[in-house]
Amino acid sequence: MKKILITGGAGYIGSHTIIEMLENTDWQPISADNYSNSSSATFDRIKEITGKEVINYAVDLCDAKAARVIFEKNPDIAGIIHFAAFKSVPESVDQPLLYYHNNLESLVNMLALAKEFKVPHFIFSSSCSVYGNIDKLPVDESTPMSKAESPYGFTKQIGEEILSNFAKVTPTVKTVTSFCLPIAV
Ligand SMILES: NC(=O)c1ccc[n+]([C@@H]2O[C@H](COP(=O)([O-])OP(=O)(O)OC[C@H]3O[C@@H](n4cnc5c(N)ncnc54)[C@H](O)[C@@H]3O)[C@@H](O)[C@H]2O)c1
Repeated sequence: MKKILITGGAGYIGSHTIIEMLENTDWQPISADNYSNSSSATFDRIKEITGKEVINYAVDLCDAKAARVIFEKNPDIAGIIHFAAFKSVPESVDQPLLYYHNNLESLVNMLALAKEFKVPHFIFSSSCSVYGNIDKLPVDESTPMSKAESPYGFTKQIGEEILSNFAKVTPTVKTVTSFCLPIAV
């Protein structure tokens, strides 16, 4: 059974991903979420829905030492889906440093640990905000990025760049960026 680390597993998208994984695959999700924008009640609801317990490591992924423990205890992690981040556009305008710190430090730590512990797959949850204010819909993979309208969007642009730089020199980790496309505005 493949073990997949879902960061931000107590959050909105992470928890739905865990449920889908439990119900439709034979993979074993484990979570890392410090409940900064969620609570442990999520895992009670996941148990109600799926009948399965999910282990969560309630650590701040910006704390490299604490995050490392997850990998020491689970040396068989086969993939990481990195959802953990702050995601509010207005809050990021008010507190840009908080967003740069949380979203980038946690990403850098997770990539370094993926490399060190030889995790072969890494998916980064980006955002359509990387395209800035666009005139033409729908957005697709050929749409060029333009200036991010918020510090939040900029953390995702920088995150994609970090991933691209990392992938070039780290062939042992296959990386993918994903996001939801806006189909209507
Ligand atoms: N919700 C959307 O419409 C949407 C759209 C595009 C992209 N995204 C991206 O998808 C990801 C998940 O979004 P969501 O809507 O589920 O957000 P969410 O806030 O519900 O979930 C994120 C989770 O990450 C946790 N977290 C944040 N920083 C952490 C840290 N340093 N260490 C450990 N845990 C931490 C929070 O406690 C939270 O439970 C985010 O990266 C977001 O930018 C979301």
